[in-house]
Amino acid sequence: MKKNAIYPGSFDPLTNGHINLVERALSIFDTITISVAINTKKPNVFSLEERVSMIERVFKSNDHVKVDSFEGLLVDYVAKRKTAVVIRGIRTNTDFEYELGIAQANRHLSPEFETIFMMTDPQFSFLSSSMIKEIVSLGGSTNGMLPAFIEEALKKRLKEKK
Ligand code: PNS
Repeated sequence: MKKNAIYPGSFDPLTNGHINLVERALSIFDTITISVAINTKKPNVFSLEERVSMIERVFKSNDHVKVDSFEGLLVDYVAKRKTAVVIRGIRTNTDFEYELGIAQANRHLSPEFETIFMMTDPQFSFLSSSMIKEIVSLGGSTNGMLPAFIEEALKKRLKEKK
């Protein structure tokens, strides 16, 4: 049986840490669906369409990676897709404590829901989309932290916002 996993997140923007996690998850699962969360309460730098299109561009030559979006509860989205497994990346103890609470709440909401935690590769363990946004907004270098075309788009967008 083909095994698909859902990798949900804000991806505002996609980082090399996310990309590394997807590539490693493909050694366990046949396909990974990267699902971009529509969260109207969270102020994102990039629109949903921009985030989806950036992710599609990064994985365009990999047929095992699909890109989708979802709104509302993750458990409802996962149930609709008939996929039982969700992947989340863990960088630190703080991530673990936070993610454990969410995983358990999701399991309470839906008894079939499974969360697989994957440890972030050490070289990316300090990386986050918010940290990248802060570095770029303060004029620092984010070389090696995200794909060059996303870095350029981020610099442009944050400049426009000033
Ligand atoms: O990249 P992020 O911001 O850490 O992703 C968090 C995300 C979008 C995966 C999480 O907030 C989520 O699942 N949101 C959907 C609403 C939901 O189901 N919340 C959990 C209930 S406890």
